[in-house]
Amino acid sequence: MPTIPVKIRPMNKNHIAACDDIVRTSEPWKTLRERVDFSAAIRSKQVYVALIEGAVAGFVIFTAGPVFARGGYLRALGVAPAIRGLGIGRQLMKFAEKTAVKQSQNFFLCVSSFNKPGQLFYKSLGYAKAGKLDNLIKQGVSELIYWKRLK
Ligand SMILES: CC(C)(COP(=O)(O)OP(=O)(O)OC[C@H]1O[C@@H](n2cnc3c(N)ncnc32)[C@H](O)[C@@H]1OP(=O)(O)O)[C@@H](O)C(=O)NCCC(=O)NCCS
Repeated sequence: MPTIPVKIRPMNKNHIAACDDIVRTSEPWKTLRERVDFSAAIRSKQVYVALIEGAVAGFVIFTAGPVFARGGYLRALGVAPAIRGLGIGRQLMKFAEKTAVKQSQNFFLCVSSFNKPGQLFYKSLGYAKAGKLDNLIKQGVSELIYWKRLK
């Protein structure tokens, strides 16, 4: 699959509408009936966007420092639906891992049990299932904890 190179930059308020659109039109957020508070993420300096010629292609929100079991934590990741499968998610994850590894030995994330494409994506990047939290967000849905050792 070809990879489209992106520029990864701290998110600012001009990017919020495009990131909201990704969340509004995508799983897992549709099924979970969840939204992402991008304004809060900007304030906490934990969110970055992938840009193609200045336009938002995706976003990643993460905590780089060790917040759980000596690991950083990926809070949310999304790529615009029309340009998935072009390596943009992988570039955002590599950026998050490169940032986190300066402070944390490990990296954790949660992925919903119904989000099979998401699970395949994380497995392809070397993540393994480390546990599961039943009914955490929605009845009948588990949040699978995925883990990767960074160093
Ligand atoms: C998950 C997501 C971020 C992946 O981003 P992407 O840019 O489409 O993924 P990439 O093109 O970087 O894929 C990297 C690798 O992951 C795997 N992969 C990605 N999407 C996949 C899918 N739908 N099915 C199977 N494997 C997949 C492939 O192995 C791929 O490598 P390849 O290109 O060599 O085949 C994107 O699909 C998305 O935004 N999904 C909706 C939101 C979501 O599920 N977020 C994650 C959970 S919060």
